[in-house]
Amino acid sequence: DFGKNDDFWLFGYGSLIWKPPPHFDQRVPGYIEGYVRRFWQASEDHRGTPEAPGRVATLIDRAHWDTLTDHHGATERVWGAAYHIPMPYVAAVREYLDIREINGYSIQFTPFVPSSTSTSPTSDPIPKTINTLVYIGLPSNPQFLGPQDPDALARHILKSRGPSGENREYLFQLEEALGALGNESGDAHVSDLVRRCREIEAEGGGEEGASLEA
Ligand code: BEZ
Repeated sequence: DFGKNDDFWLFGYGSLIWKPPPHFDQRVPGYIEGYVRRFWQASEDHRGTPEAPGRVATLIDRAHWDTLTDHHGATERVWGAAYHIPMPYVAAVREYLDIREINGYSIQFTPFVPSSTSTSPTSDPIPKTINTLVYIGLPSNPQFLGPQDPDALARHILKSRGPSGENREYLFQLEEALGALGNESGDAHVSDLVRRCREIEAEGGGEEGASLEA
């Protein structure tokens, strides 16, 4: 049920938004505060390879905001989806995420604010916040890259691919999934990267341009 202490909730801000974890029984759109989303995490296992890592989303916490030099605006809210995992499946889901998804992320717990349009599937009222587990790339994690020049980042995304597919598809799906979460659920960094990728592709850059350059 909503917000009980023994409940396990997972916050997704990347591919989990459109590719839910196994065994979830509730999905709630909303946001967390005190973080910003950046494509500063190398992906060797999903949207890239160990030889040519792609770029996926991670969260930057307040302690590291002095590194935000790309001026995409720190809105302090990161929209995503919280998933409730029934207790009997918690160990299996954590194992699934640790083994399949986690390529150098750390775990934190943070309060999640359900969007005002969320409805309770039970007669329980919706709590103001839910404690959620979130996977975060910290500067101490091996896959954490730190600040990326936005134009170079867009070009890198356009030329990368891995076992889960093209890196650009991850970026474009993220923007679309964010748009579907609510009216204010956009992300300036994500929209900026999408705009740059579209411009580069319209100019005939991207894939071919990038590989000529490489
Ligand atoms: C996510 O989609 O939110 C996510 C999944 C695995 C690791 C980090 C983030």
